[in-house]
Amino acid sequence: MPAIVIIGAQWGDEGKGKATDLLGSRIDYVVKFNGGNNAGHTVVIDGEKYALHLLPSGILSEGVIPVISNGVVIDIEVLFEELDALIARGVDVSRLMISSNAHVITQYHRTLDKVTERFLGKRQIGTTGRGIGPAYADKINRVGIRIQDLFDENILRQKVQGALHQKNHLLVKIYNRRAIEVEEIVSNLLSYAERLRPMVADTALVLNDALDAQKIVLFEGGQATMLDVDHGTYPFVTSSNSTSGGASTGSGIGPNRIDRVIGIVKAYTTRVGAGPFPTELHGEDGEWLRQKGFEFGTTTGRPRRTGWYDAPIARYSARINGVTDFVMTKLDVLSGLEKIPVCVAYSVDGVRVDEVPASQSDFHHAVPIYEEFDGWQEDITGAREFSDLPQKAQDYVLAIEAISGARISAIGVGPGREAIVVRHDLIN
Ligand code: GDP
Ligand code: IMO
Ligand code: MG
Repeated sequence: MPAIVIIGAQWGDEGKGKATDLLGSRIDYVVKFNGGNNAGHTVVIDGEKYALHLLPSGILSEGVIPVISNGVVIDIEVLFEELDALIARGVDVSRLMISSNAHVITQYHRTLDKVTERFLGKRQIGTTGRGIGPAYADKINRVGIRIQDLFDENILRQKVQGALHQKNHLLVKIYNRRAIEVEEIVSNLLSYAERLRPMVADTALVLNDALDAQKIVLFEGGQATMLDVDHGTYPFVTSSNSTSGGASTGSGIGPNRIDRVIGIVKAYTTRVGAGPFPTELHGEDGEWLRQKGFEFGTTTGRPRRTGWYDAPIARYSARINGVTDFVMTKLDVLSGLEKIPVCVAYSVDGVRVDEVPASQSDFHHAVPIYEEFDGWQEDITGAREFSDLPQKAQDYVLAIEAISGARISAIGVGPGREAIVVRHDLIN
């Protein structure tokens, strides 16, 4: 089974980095296919913590070929910073390949991200401020800069001129900011070209050839289903397709090549930034989850909003992505609770609704209907087999599996690489 996709099944930060790392030693290629340095993946290996943003987490596994494919938006300065930090820690990054069709995030994208957020006032999305939305907007608007443009100075200058022509009006006249010089951007981008050149490849060809040769390719999604620009809680979403379909368009492999879709869910729910979140807890319980689960953003350090597990969202994700297996992370965080509430349906304006409502306004009004499960008091971080878990923890997992739309094939019981219970093999 060569092509495997990992996606977030909630609002991000489910532990995708850890799940990728779990498969790391058995895969040949790992592909980041969407998003940019808005992602933040923490991987803990032998007690050492690695935080990755733009690079796929699989880069930490020896022998794996990391690929940044066409669906990604790349802030080149961040790329090199991240590479240098890994090199300094002894990680071999020499095999990294980057698509010539990937788009570039420049200074004007970062600036526009911040000023548009400020102008939105109360309607702010709470973006990461990394220029992601404006870079994807330029891509769709056909005024983006691609990696390949860095190798043709004339084309690059023309494209930057074209993009800034309109943006400088916007920056100066609407947002009261200084105009950005074409040459400032062009010379900055050109300064990276030579270091970048050996990494640039026709990654769609490379990946299709790899699949033809029965290599195992893992597609690592950034963000998550509920942040997907088409299927998430629009407009409180990111600007890319972070669902499994994005792995196909974002890398240039046919959808029929994907064999396995692994959805990552936390045993509860978190969200960073604005937007609806039916099971959100505002009081002590929410703070308890935040402290116990250490729920602070890997990218921006913001405290994450926290709440109970939401089964309709898991079912929605299972459907939209074609999830074959779930990995449930952070079960250990729930140890010590007497009762664990799980949202099984919503009440929307007094009417019971079993699935995520199609109307965003209804979703904003959705009030969770909870079922309570017995908690367990034991520390479960040492569990390695399902039978090592206390009976009540097993019951919780099985009850959630029955209402979530796909089997739960692995369970995270701690941040470390080894802290996992595998019930079904995720590759074969
Ligand atoms: P990602 O963006 O989906 O890769 O997730 P993040 O790295 O942003 O956030 C997940 C956090 O949970 C990280 O700090 C991980 O080290 C941590 N983590 C992952 N799995 C587990 C688990 O099973 N138990 C605990 N306690 N922490 C976990
Ligand atoms: P990983 O890959 C959690 C959220 C932001 C904001 C919205 C739009 O670590 O799961 P953007 O900067 O993308 O335009 O912000 O999306 N967001 C994330 N939340 N995890 C992420 O990535 C996120 N990437 C973006 O907080 O609400
Ligand atoms: Mg994250």
